[in-house]
Amino acid sequence: MSAGDRMQERTSIEELTSGVRPSQDRGDRGHRGDRGDRGQAAAPPGTGAAVIACDRLVRIYSTAGIEVQALQGLDLEVDAGELTALVGASGSGKSTLLNILAGLDTPTAGQARVAGHDLLAMSGGDRLAYRRSVVGFLWQQTGRNLFSHLTAAENVALPMRLARGRSQARGRARRSERALELLEMTGVGYCADRMPAQMSGGEQQRVAIGIALANRPAVLLADEPTGELDSESADEVFAALRTANAELGVTVLVVTHDPQVSAQVRRTIAIRDGKISTEVLRRAAADGQADVAEEYSVLDRAGRLQIPRDFIESLGMRDRVRLALEPDHVGVWPDSPGRGVKNTNEEGE
Ligand SMILES: Nc1ncnc2c1ncn2[C@@H]1O[C@H](COP(=O)(O)OP(=O)(O)O)[C@@H](O)[C@H]1O
Ligand SMILES: [Mg+2]
Repeated sequence: MSAGDRMQERTSIEELTSGVRPSQDRGDRGHRGDRGDRGQAAAPPGTGAAVIACDRLVRIYSTAGIEVQALQGLDLEVDAGELTALVGASGSGKSTLLNILAGLDTPTAGQARVAGHDLLAMSGGDRLAYRRSVVGFLWQQTGRNLFSHLTAAENVALPMRLARGRSQARGRARRSERALELLEMTGVGYCADRMPAQMSGGEQQRVAIGIALANRPAVLLADEPTGELDSESADEVFAALRTANAELGVTVLVVTHDPQVSAQVRRTIAIRDGKISTEVLRRAAADGQADVAEEYSVLDRAGRLQIPRDFIESLGMRDRVRLALEPDHVGVWPDSPGRGVKNTNEEGE
């Protein structure tokens, strides 16, 4: 192995053990918004405590004098134990959000808390411990998740070894045993002694799930983990994520382009231009019936919502709309005369 290769390896070892290079704290961080306690009012009724809570999260990239607002005041709450899909067009801010939640990047403004950790207030040391034990991360590129010179079982045992001093970092025998349990759980126990080059992409991703779960994180983040796989392998990887969620109770947030995935999760959130725009909630229906999926627009804390583009276009809405409060809904009318403008009193009759 050349020195250059070793550098590569070193970079990935740090990444896979969540001990990535110190994130580039760009000093362009703005104010952090109010830091008061929150959560109770924001959680939808009937749900548990939020393990992921983002409040008006902003991330601005400034390169060569050009500013990109990748996240534009994003609000998001994910409850403990949820399995949630995150969808959105390329460039909408999905990876930016995941990198912040993973502790790999720092927001410009706003608040983000994961499992009680304030992502804007962590010291370098806190951040390292956070990346090792509070969150697990899965990259799209299989090669980024595994060490090519370690077997599957050694790959899974490694983060446990690196989390020294913690209760999970017990003796070698216990680590190997747990590594095998995790590989069995993700359906690749038979790969325990194989090197990455001897496994398919799907098998490598299922080993990577084991690596991400090694230190019993509260949250598993996956950025298009099936993006480079054929559909059969993608199904197997997604099944492994579901098993991890069901058996270990780990909260899973997975970025995906795959409409099949959204059909298999209870909640799919869509991000548009750096904000959550819509959510689809799926409820199990009565026996023998298809699940019921309902799409919602997301109301942010300031009362803003995004009207779907096709609604806006079909009614020719521009600049201004008229609103009317009805007993059980709000009516929205285009402002252009003669185009769908109604007397509000007639609506709903
Ligand atoms: N390191 C960076 N420097 C400058 N701009 C970036 C950087 N990373 C992402 N962006 C920009 O931020 C926006 C959101 O990117 P990203 O979060 O990667 O989107 P997605 O994952 O949804 O495709 C895009 O316009 C992208 O070009
Ligand atoms: Mg991305």
